[in-house]
Amino acid sequence: MSKNSTITILGAGYVGLTTAALLAQSGYRVFVVEPNPKRLEAIKSGRSFFFEDGIDPIIKQGVESGTLIPTDSYEQSVPDADVIFSCVGTPDNPDGSSNLSYVFGAAEQAAEYMKPGVVYVQKSTVPVGTGRKVIDQFKNKSVDVQYVSNPEFLREGTAVYDTLYFDRVVAGGDDTAAVETVLDVYRALEAHRDDIAALAGITTGPRKGLYISTKLNSAELIKVTANAFLALKISFANSIAMLADRVDADVVEVMDAVGADERIGRAFLNAGRGYGGGCFPKDVSGLISSALENNVDLEIMQSAQAVNGAMPGYIVEKLKVELGELAGKKVAVFGLAFKAGTSDTRKSPGVAIANLLVHYGAEVVGYDPQGNEEAREDLHDSVTLIDSPDTAGPIDALVVATEWPEFRTLSTETLHTVLGENSVLIDAVNIYSPQELRAAGIRYIGVGR
Ligand code: UGA
Repeated sequence: MSKNSTITILGAGYVGLTTAALLAQSGYRVFVVEPNPKRLEAIKSGRSFFFEDGIDPIIKQGVESGTLIPTDSYEQSVPDADVIFSCVGTPDNPDGSSNLSYVFGAAEQAAEYMKPGVVYVQKSTVPVGTGRKVIDQFKNKSVDVQYVSNPEFLREGTAVYDTLYFDRVVAGGDDTAAVETVLDVYRALEAHRDDIAALAGITTGPRKGLYISTKLNSAELIKVTANAFLALKISFANSIAMLADRVDADVVEVMDAVGADERIGRAFLNAGRGYGGGCFPKDVSGLISSALENNVDLEIMQSAQAVNGAMPGYIVEKLKVELGELAGKKVAVFGLAFKAGTSDTRKSPGVAIANLLVHYGAEVVGYDPQGNEEAREDLHDSVTLIDSPDTAGPIDALVVATEWPEFRTLSTETLHTVLGENSVLIDAVNIYSPQELRAAGIRYIGVGR
């Protein structure tokens, strides 16, 4: 595929919009299709509708120069496309399985307008076996198309960096030429990456990423396996943290030393309130259910999921031990996004903790540097949101549930002002030094410390 080719991205979520914005800086004409009018308006005006470091200047540049074309129309965007990336949402069904209606719906709609020979790329996280079903869908419509699975590994909050300085690009499919076409798109991106990083105002990375081509089903399985393994590491760390709590060990010291073994690695061994977000919870349940469909009982992931589900309750229990009855107590929860660096509050542990506290009768105040607005929908009505951490007090306890730099750097003086005399600080993300805070007279409780 030559530069100047047209790429169409279906869906402008974290994955779709980031991919579209970056490819529009890599020599391609890129359509990005977003049906939600409010979101589309934001993109057309040159910004994202979510908080993501460095993305807005890239969108703005692309829209203004005409290489990035936001639209809600398949009819406008699909006919010229040489490559189509499907980045539509894959929410979970109530039973934990993946809801693939958007995946099949996008393929169905795109099939109406695709030109012969187009490469159709699935970037959304889907259960293994989904690609074969989409291929059948295309066969039934007699369209001439090559299907490639190209799973995404970017993290929210560092989406631009991760896409530019990737560890690996994985593309899997039946047709070698189509797989190479997809890998070439990333080679073009790699060639432009330092310029794009400068435009985004982010630091450049050291990585030389791998290009990996695989069978179709391997590519699909690689993605969910990677997320499941990371989730497993977190639940493992949380299980050890519960033991550390009982035996007066510090799980941070334990994981620093354990993670120093190259075979294990330190990443994703941070114990705390458990994982949240739009990916791990649904990818773990999706993997469990797709394994069951294939008569494989992934007990190991069921355990990881159960441990994770119990973590917000474990945090609240710690508070009960300190404060006794929670009814009538005033508690602040800082950190409502599912992690730092994002406004995303989907399946956020901070929100779960706040709602649990309300359940036990506490008066709850919530604060997040970026996520207040998104959190509102999932928070109990009685939770009061504040715009600045120092307006929380006087409170009986503070739960820090997300590792925002702004929380890490709170001075002991500020913590004293927020907390008051006998209040408790629950560090649900283990970002403070227990020794320092205790020496400063703060009732500090971590997770596994
Ligand atoms: C995750 C993966 O890291 C990405 O590689 C993948 O592309 C993405 O899912 C996806 O499937 O789209 P993301 O959900 O953005 O990315 O966030 P992570 O940084 O992985 O964090 C997930 C959750 O785990 C957060 O709630 C975080 O606070 C928690 N976490 C992470 C821990 O509790 N402990 C850790 O040690 C690390």
